[in-house]
Amino acid sequence: MKLTLSVIKADIGSVGGHVAPSQHLLQTVKDYIGKRAPGLLLDHYISYTGDDIAILMTHTHGPNDEHVHQLAWDAFRAGTDAARKEGLYGAGQDLLKDSFSGNVKGMGPAVAEMEFEERTSEPFLFFAADKTDPGAFNLPLYLAFADVMNTPGLILSPKMSHGYRFVIMDVSNTTGDRIIELNAPEEIYDIAALLRDPERFVVESVWSRATGEQAVAVATSRLHNIAGKYTGKDDPVMLVRVQMNFPATGEILAPYTVGHFVGGGMRGSHQVPLMPVKLNTGISYFDGPPIVSSAGFCVHNGILTEPMDNFAHPFWDTVRDRVATKAIEIRRQGFVGTSMLPMNELEYTGISEKLGDLDKRFRIREAKPELTRV
Ligand code: F6R
Ligand code: MG
Ligand code: MG
Repeated sequence: MKLTLSVIKADIGSVGGHVAPSQHLLQTVKDYIGKRAPGLLLDHYISYTGDDIAILMTHTHGPNDEHVHQLAWDAFRAGTDAARKEGLYGAGQDLLKDSFSGNVKGMGPAVAEMEFEERTSEPFLFFAADKTDPGAFNLPLYLAFADVMNTPGLILSPKMSHGYRFVIMDVSNTTGDRIIELNAPEEIYDIAALLRDPERFVVESVWSRATGEQAVAVATSRLHNIAGKYTGKDDPVMLVRVQMNFPATGEILAPYTVGHFVGGGMRGSHQVPLMPVKLNTGISYFDGPPIVSSAGFCVHNGILTEPMDNFAHPFWDTVRDRVATKAIEIRRQGFVGTSMLPMNELEYTGISEKLGDLDKRFRIREAKPELTRV
């Protein structure tokens, strides 16, 4: 059967700062979807990562379906009302428009969707990250789909040896979706040249060149492009199909051992390492560190199994310890140099206002008359 996976996520309020949704808020969203899912959805799974709630849905209506998007939007609206009643912080933060107009894209919530012919067994992974932006997935996806040092399947599996097609978006462009398609392995240097700048160039999807099937869908929205001002980091979600013609689960997860530095953390303005965490983990140190969770599923006739918590395994404790050490180390550098994002990525206007004021106080020192030697 032709199945659609849709995941739509939003920050609609949290407890104790930008930390995690309240149980009541989460339950409100669950109840809302649960009541209205029959007839529209085949199945769903609702979870949180940091202060974001994600609604994962299975159905047969294809990507960008008005009714599916409307359901998620309305659930977030109902959640926002509950968050306001509880006095949660940032209630409705990511709902940037007042009324629904057919599609949640460009309205604040992050969306990742893909449609495919369901395999006999269809294993896939759902990732959600908080306190960072979609470019956080650039390096893990490059390593998993283009680097044989990470993914032995690229040489061991004949189907995988055909390589993968990367669709990369220039997320700084606000007039439309500016994309480029590049093939690995032939064009890996070109892919790397773009992905080195994760605030601007973001992997949107990855496709098998052997079969033409889609392997990956990443949410690429940039909230500050939509809102025209600071609204919090974009906190992306991603879907990855695994096994057979695609990398194995372990090959997709392996890059998260790096704990690479990503844009985000405190006030969305820093470089902090990405920590793989258990499902339904909140935020703590330095409004971070940026976190990523991963739930593994099999879906059959649209029905989801229970989620496997991929980063709950004891192996990841060592990684978490190392990422915590990296985070503390870079924070010792405070506001100077690479610990903070460049000017155009700062999510607050304080520094540019200060620099504007200080600019007026700069002066060119008058040259002293040269002493004449006798
Ligand atoms: C980053 C984030 C937080 C807030 C910070 C200040 O994406 O959500 O780090 O920027 O807690 O929040 P406000 O400005 O709401 O007090
Ligand atoms: Mg928030
Ligand atoms: Mg968030």
